[in-house]
Amino acid sequence: MGNNVDTPTILIIIGITGDLSKRKLLPALGEMAVAGVLPKQFKIIGITRQQAVTLDILLTGVIHSEQIRKQIALFSMSLTDARDYARLDVYLREIAGGVLGGTPQRLWYLSVPPKTAWPIIKQLNVSGLAKVPRTKLLLEKPFGVDRESAQELVTHIENSFAPEQVYRIDHYLAKETVQNIVVFRHDNPLFERTWNHDAIERIDILAGETIGIEGRAAFYEQTGALRDIVQSHLLQLAALTLMTLPEEGGWQRIPEARYALLHSLEVDPDHVHRGQYIGYRDEVYNPTSMVETFVSLTLFSNDPRWRDVPITLTTGKALAQKKTEIVVTYRRNGTQDANILTLRLQPNEGIELCFLAKRPGYDRKIERVPLAFTYADHFGALPDAYEHVLLDAVRGDHTLFVSSEEVLESWRIIDATRKAFESHPDTLTLYPHGATPEQVLELEQRVLCDKFNFSP
Ligand code: BG6
Repeated sequence: MGNNVDTPTILIIIGITGDLSKRKLLPALGEMAVAGVLPKQFKIIGITRQQAVTLDILLTGVIHSEQIRKQIALFSMSLTDARDYARLDVYLREIAGGVLGGTPQRLWYLSVPPKTAWPIIKQLNVSGLAKVPRTKLLLEKPFGVDRESAQELVTHIENSFAPEQVYRIDHYLAKETVQNIVVFRHDNPLFERTWNHDAIERIDILAGETIGIEGRAAFYEQTGALRDIVQSHLLQLAALTLMTLPEEGGWQRIPEARYALLHSLEVDPDHVHRGQYIGYRDEVYNPTSMVETFVSLTLFSNDPRWRDVPITLTTGKALAQKKTEIVVTYRRNGTQDANILTLRLQPNEGIELCFLAKRPGYDRKIERVPLAFTYADHFGALPDAYEHVLLDAVRGDHTLFVSSEEVLESWRIIDATRKAFESHPDTLTLYPHGATPEQVLELEQRVLCDKFNFSP
């Protein structure tokens, strides 16, 4: 289902008044309009359940491009009433015949929580809207809560939509710095030739945030850091870092390569750690909540290329720094310091390689020094991930989206991690706002030592 950007398109955003739409989707569309990358014939229909919302209220301060404002219309309806879907279909056909003059593709963007998404998918099926030619479905994570529920959802969606109609979004895959992982590896043989267990000692992937849960109490109580960040974002970063690159020109096969890598991963049950920031329980009005806001887990791949290389994924809210990075530590020569390659995904996007140099002076002292590249110095501002998400869905390119096989495989890993947590049900380290990941792990160590009465 390939489409170029000249395909007349109707983008139907369900949940246009929601947080994601206001913070990400609408601003991304505004930027795309200014950059001139949207199809020439393009219309956005925002579905809302609130009759009182007007475009002025919705767009003020969110979109500055006049051009895109003229292309947006609101349609108010109930998301559970079949008659409203029929009414919407008539409206979409009017737009297709009138403004767009042809058979546009229809992109249904479900910017709603999963519980709201499933009844909508059902309605799209029974109303026949899913089968309208050139229809696509865009879904936000989380895709389920465990492997079993994810499998149910996959089956449920496949009953209504063909696999190539479905675009599962993980906005991390669409970040410029994340797309660059493949280019960095593929186009720099210097690194790819040493990208294996012979040269590499360990890989650490971190996504630290300074923010807490920002009022998303109900969502977070059901999700926790493991499902919110590790299940898709961090496992996808691991897959891109470790996968076998598809043969020349095989970019369309990247989802398959990511899947193969995910399939090779196993959790080390002795290296799973979880924590919760102090104050979280008050925020969610649950004084006994055991939901984790911090997770660190170590995985191993059974791909011989990565034999015995620990891959550690760490994430947390309310930490000292907002920082997402992939740190590759090379094997050292004897007692020398290691070469370290850091792919800084955000902020201060860039790449840094630390190597050893002679410190000037009369003694032969060796020091680790950085060789650094930053996007800001070299390329300037980066497009937001959601611009790529929208553009690639319009074009019909699945490379930056997650396949159902990948979703199921990542849940296998998450379920195994939860099982490992359950074998230590009361181990949850309480950490203060602003702690570093290392401090959270040290705290855990101290609590364990106190509990079992041995010294660290
Ligand atoms: C979302 C999570 O998927 O990613 C949030 O639900 C998290 O909890 C966010 O804050 C982080 O995204 P980014 O792009 O700011 O790293």
